[in-house]
Amino acid sequence: MSAPHRPDAAVAQATTLPDSPLARLIADEIRQRGGFMRFERYMELALYTPGLGYYSGGRRVLGQGPQDGSDFVTAPEMSPLFGQAVAAQLAQALEVTGTDQLWEFGAGTGALAEQLLGELGDRIQRYTIVDLSGTLRERQHERLVKAHPALAHKVVWADTLPDRFEGVIVGNEVLDAIPVHLLHFDGQQWRERGVTLAPDSTDAHPVFAWAEQELPEGVRPPTEQPDSVFVPGTVVETHGPAEAFVATLAQHMDKGAAFFIDYGFPADEFYHPQRTGGTLMCHQAHRADPDPLDQVGAKDITTHVNFTGVALAGQEGGWTVLGYTSQAHFLMNCGLLNLLPPPGDTLNAAQIKATAAVQKLLGEHEMGELFKVVGFVKGDWFDALGFSRGDRTHLL
Ligand SMILES: C[S@@+](CC[C@H](N)C(=O)[O-])C[C@H]1O[C@@H](n2cnc3c(N)ncnc32)[C@H](O)[C@@H]1O
Repeated sequence: MSAPHRPDAAVAQATTLPDSPLARLIADEIRQRGGFMRFERYMELALYTPGLGYYSGGRRVLGQGPQDGSDFVTAPEMSPLFGQAVAAQLAQALEVTGTDQLWEFGAGTGALAEQLLGELGDRIQRYTIVDLSGTLRERQHERLVKAHPALAHKVVWADTLPDRFEGVIVGNEVLDAIPVHLLHFDGQQWRERGVTLAPDSTDAHPVFAWAEQELPEGVRPPTEQPDSVFVPGTVVETHGPAEAFVATLAQHMDKGAAFFIDYGFPADEFYHPQRTGGTLMCHQAHRADPDPLDQVGAKDITTHVNFTGVALAGQEGGWTVLGYTSQAHFLMNCGLLNLLPPPGDTLNAAQIKATAAVQKLLGEHEMGELFKVVGFVKGDWFDALGFSRGDRTHLL
């Protein structure tokens, strides 16, 4: 049954928001939709509205710290050793699957692309980038083609996926940036949480508030567990769009492999009844906050990844899971520690910096354990380097 797009319960205080063209555009669409916008659509507009969204409005977004005007840092921004280690896995996958093409989804500033192209050299004949953000594509072009004219013949951008393609895919922190559905358990049933206009909203100064509707057709509660295991008030995300994205890549690939690196957990952990607040989070100036309705377009909106859902989606699309493990295991399996100076050497300033970055990439309380890697292949399973020790596929 398809529920009407009509708010029937504002469930939170309206939050303030600076007047902005993006806020007015979203407010107009909420009115056109009869007063209720699904959260997935709100997140899509907030992040990717051309020229206005968080990723497409020309903000600095990715960098080293608040001092450079950025909002968060990612592994390839932190250290080139990240890309050099990942390259070892990609080189093996290119070899085994018999292709010389790499595809990167969500390439950010082009940092990982630069590292991989440098490390893999002639092993790559074409490096295709797919990114929803026009402004980030410009940054990627400057970093990869303008700064390295010799790469110009290899690096291409694609707006859409061809009907059939081959190659090895890599995506670092792309799945966490794909819009989600928000669901709320009210003690009796699951309802879909979305966005409406608060009573004090005006045309010139829109103010957003949470609202709910019955679960629309196609949106299922998060698990098969009886609803009673969830505490009333529990809010969770479900990842239909990210799972459809992965399934589509799998379906259209003729030969190749894919590796996704991101923060997240298997479904059992994701939908554990004690996790009552979900994982939705915003990032601005290297600080996290939980309110996506405030300052729309000025901060990142993200959720953790449900790796069980991703693995199932890949399989349904025709991929075989190669492995699943923590970022720390994956990078060590790929030889990251061998890229550091040997113990006992006197380190110069650059080496001290590199060692500190590697500690962040591997540290259990930093990125090493929260971030995971899942790998897939089209065709026969092989013993992938990155999962050789510490594989956790059985937990998915
Ligand atoms: C969190 S950033 C990560 C950037 C980069 N991979 C890094 O690690 O620094 C997310 C990136 O994914 C892109 N993105 C989000 N959804 C996408 C999609 N469906 N297809 C391609 N790119 C997407 C965004 O535009 C952005 O470049």
